Amino acid sequence: MAFNLDDDDSYRRWRDQKLSARPGDLTELAVEVGDIAALSPAEEDALRRHVRRCNMALYVETSRQPNRDDKRAVAALGGRFGLTALDRNHLADDDGITPLAVASDGARARYIPYTERPIAWHTDGYYNPPATGVRGLILHCARPAAQGGENKLMDPELLYIRLRDLDPDLIRALSQPQAMTIPGNDDEGMTRPAMTGPVFFVRDGRLAMRYTARTRSIEWHPEAAAAAQVIRRVLEDGGADVFVGRLQAGWGLLCNNVLHTRERFSDDPARPRLLYRARYHDRIQGT
Ligand SMILES: [Fe+2]
Repeated sequence: MAFNLDDDDSYRRWRDQKLSARPGDLTELAVEVGDIAALSPAEEDALRRHVRRCNMALYVETSRQPNRDDKRAVAALGGRFGLTALDRNHLADDDGITPLAVASDGARARYIPYTERPIAWHTDGYYNPPATGVRGLILHCARPAAQGGENKLMDPELLYIRLRDLDPDLIRALSQPQAMTIPGNDDEGMTRPAMTGPVFFVRDGRLAMRYTARTRSIEWHPEAAAAAQVIRRVLEDGGADVFVGRLQAGWGLLCNNVLHTRERFSDDPARPRLLYRARYHDRIQGT
């Protein structure tokens, strides 16, 4: 098994195949599609091929129906890839899909995603217990910001390779069940207990990752703290494995919850940035 630290042969085989398929940049992962609510089989195949390669694909819609319901379109897209188990976090709308836009008041206004501020490297749902972690993610752009709001992206499997090749003990430290603790949260009638768990773990034979570069009140196990610094350095140094893209209207990211940031943006109040986010407990089928 490739993710078993005692099985170097399997790891080498998996690693070599993974690296030989590695895309040069985000444009290699882009697929023009007519309308995500009605993908052709060829469009679906192309998206799945990219996700298989590096856990993410970028779609670019060319013929959306005017006045389409974007949330329903996102749900339909997810359905094509076996994404059905929505993660209903407490700020999601009733249908489980979250509109991300600057909120000037209400519960959302106190959270960074609903401001123009940048969001550091993370995987979505890092505060979920591993059993209900976020494995699939769609980010659909209805309207970009006037300026900024790019996403940096990295396949967690490529990060895993970077770390394991540096020192397998980094993976060992980050895989222990006490590696990272997210503090509890208690407001707006929602109580989330503190969540302790590994950064890297294996589910159904596939690598999963929960991570945040946020430093405030995150507790790292003493044995994992140094490894967390190495992650931070790899992500900050960027390099060829970090892609940067700015979603335009009708573009979106379909992925197995890859590592990402959101860069700072500034809105035109008449046309504020609007993204729809759907988080799933499923991984993209066939990838
Ligand atoms: Fe995110």
